[in-house]
Amino acid sequence: MHNFNYMTPTRLIFGRDVVEKLADVMRPLGRRVLLTYGGGSIKKIGLYQKVMELLKDFEIYELPGIEPNPKYTTSVLGGVKICKEQHIDVILSVGGGSVLDCSKAIAAGACYDGEPWDLITHKAPTEAALPIVDIMTLSATGSEYDAGGVISRTETNDKLAYMDPHLYPVASFLDPTYTFTVNKKHTAAGTADAINHILEQYFCADHNTLADGFCESGLCTLMQFAPVAIAEPENYEARAELMLACCYGCNGIYALGNSRGGWPMHSIEHALSAYYDITHGEGLAIITPRWMEHILSERTLERFVSLGTHLFGIDAAKPAMEIARETIQRFYDFFLSIGIPMHLREVGIDESRLAEMAHHIVLEGLDKPYNYVPLTEGEILDILKASL
Ligand code: NZQ
Ligand code: ZN
Repeated sequence: MHNFNYMTPTRLIFGRDVVEKLADVMRPLGRRVLLTYGGGSIKKIGLYQKVMELLKDFEIYELPGIEPNPKYTTSVLGGVKICKEQHIDVILSVGGGSVLDCSKAIAAGACYDGEPWDLITHKAPTEAALPIVDIMTLSATGSEYDAGGVISRTETNDKLAYMDPHLYPVASFLDPTYTFTVNKKHTAAGTADAINHILEQYFCADHNTLADGFCESGLCTLMQFAPVAIAEPENYEARAELMLACCYGCNGIYALGNSRGGWPMHSIEHALSAYYDITHGEGLAIITPRWMEHILSERTLERFVSLGTHLFGIDAAKPAMEIARETIQRFYDFFLSIGIPMHLREVGIDESRLAEMAHHIVLEGLDKPYNYVPLTEGEILDILKASL
């Protein structure tokens, strides 16, 4: 068991109608609010109107139109400008992970005199950020319970994970009913994202029994309830199970006491969505079985056998390699069964830029020894080719 030093300071406020408490939670944080949201789904579900009513005593400024894979030049800089000009006290993010990630970068940028990109790239330390409250409308990223945000810069094909303890939301409102309208594509992609967050942490050299059990339970929950939510979008229990399982994804709780994994599938996927603006969870689902096949070896076999026997109930008496191959196939089949396109070509990616992406990806450190299985540029290219 490795040493750790763990804290998640975010208050989770979970359940039907919890948003009624919004003003009480926001009041101590200030009166001048920047309301951030995406392309309009919150208006369609009546949440925008609800928030306006609940916060009628506050002074609200708005940043609408935050894109999926939120963009630095438009959304982050646009939000920072409003915060500085209007002396914003607190940011209220209403939407999915993209809106919240963008809000986190805005919150830090608003407290910094230089170019916010320096914070995102960790060239400058983050010393302060505005407080953030969020209302989540999509179960996927875990941004509501973590200290990270992922920001894209189109000009340079960068999509970077920006992590800093200042970025934890103060409070996250999680009402599963707000996810009833998430369509099949994004319900499936969100589930694939959350599954992958767990796998990134399960595949590591030193692990412990409690962490394994927690991961396996998370995977089991996601795989059980995603098909239910897709078939019955307004099934509260299914949406609630997904919402809770997703929120733990990236705050480290799944890996307490474990050694580092390195998050290789995320590094690879971030390049795919930086270059082609694809949906994060779909890119991950495509990469997952190909990465697994690539790293399968005598050294990694135990992880596959553990997953296959515990999660899928594969007969432990079978040869280990057979269990491992069956486990990989089960993930592939699951993603396919919830409607995810399982080839890069199906999401508009051909071979033309694979080498360029592999080069970009390896620069993020996937070849370094701290990774569970270090990958060279050539190996990353092989995984991308196998995903075509
Ligand atoms: O923009 P609107 O109109 O709101 O529509 C959104 C968007 O088109 C729609 N949507 C959201 N809630 C809805 C809804 N549609 C109907 N009903 C609702 N209730 O869904 C679409 C996708 O939204 P988005 O926020 O982009 O999805 P997600 O939450 O999956 O976020 C993806 C982003 O998060 C990053 C990804 O890379 C990607 O940029 N990640 C963030 C992480 C983190 N902060 O910890 C970790 C992840 O690994 C991930 O990298
Ligand atoms: Zn992810």
